[in-house]
Amino acid sequence: MSVAHTQAKVALVTGAAKRIGAEIVRHLHHAGFNLVIHYHFSEKSAQELADELNEERENSAICIQADLNSITQINELATQALARWQRIDLLINNASSFYPTPIGNSSEEDWDNLINSNLKAPFFLAQALAQSLSEHHGCIINIADIYADKPLKKHSIYSIAKAGNVMLTKTLAQELAPLVRVNGIAPGAILWPDDTNKCPEDKLSDDNKEKMLARIPLQQRGQAQDIAKTILFLAQSAPYITGQILTVDGGRSITI
Ligand SMILES: NC(=O)c1ccc[n+]([C@@H]2O[C@H](COP(=O)([O-])OP(=O)(O)OC[C@H]3O[C@@H](n4cnc5c(N)ncnc54)[C@H](OP(=O)(O)O)[C@@H]3O)[C@@H](O)[C@H]2O)c1
Repeated sequence: MSVAHTQAKVALVTGAAKRIGAEIVRHLHHAGFNLVIHYHFSEKSAQELADELNEERENSAICIQADLNSITQINELATQALARWQRIDLLINNASSFYPTPIGNSSEEDWDNLINSNLKAPFFLAQALAQSLSEHHGCIINIADIYADKPLKKHSIYSIAKAGNVMLTKTLAQELAPLVRVNGIAPGAILWPDDTNKCPEDKLSDDNKEKMLARIPLQQRGQAQDIAKTILFLAQSAPYITGQILTVDGGRSITI
């Protein structure tokens, strides 16, 4: 590995094998970061993404698997990432589980699963990486949701978890200042949920998608790159911004 590569900044992106996470990874790599691509089940996609990046720039990306329900695996993810690069400059807490939990039909397992990926893991990953982030004057960016503020119907636990994620951003910004900046991004409708493993009643119907789009002032869904570009802005061009949530939703939150 060349010296230039070991001196490059390093970003750890959770849930990064596909969709918005993968787009964030590509943008950061293009901006010169080395990458830790975290995944849980999507090993093949994660490895293909790492191969693509390593072909562009040798030794610039690795994959690490971890179930974010497990505190042991969360800490191991941080340990392995630091062991590989000796530094982390940017932590993007992107991984998330998302599904309906109607009142009367929600289990403790649902609670744990949704809270763990959206709230508990971001807190403990931040804790495990705080020293390295401080040493390198780094950044944390948590991906929240516009539903942190106004709850999504039949998605209580997810909405609660994302509301906690917003407070996590504010409290970490206070705790880790002045060395580490911590911000959040609240996306609106960017990519429709990955429905492949869902039962029919949990899937978003075409009719509901239409209704949702009609309520967006900019009259279209956002794109994964809108989130990735916002990440780059917060990480690279916002030295006096911390503890803030930037909404990227085509104006939708002003109408709901
Ligand atoms: N999509 C949207 O329009 C939208 C709207 C509002 C907010 N957001 C937020 O933006 C972020 C990215 O959205 P997305 O739709 O791209 O996310 P996604 O595809 O639903 O999930 C991203 C990844 O999270 C990982 N994950 C879930 N539970 C995990 C666990 N217990 N342990 C480890 N990894 C776990 C999965 O990794 P594996 O595949 O490897 O298992 C998954 O690929 C999320 O935080 C989401 O809440 C998205």
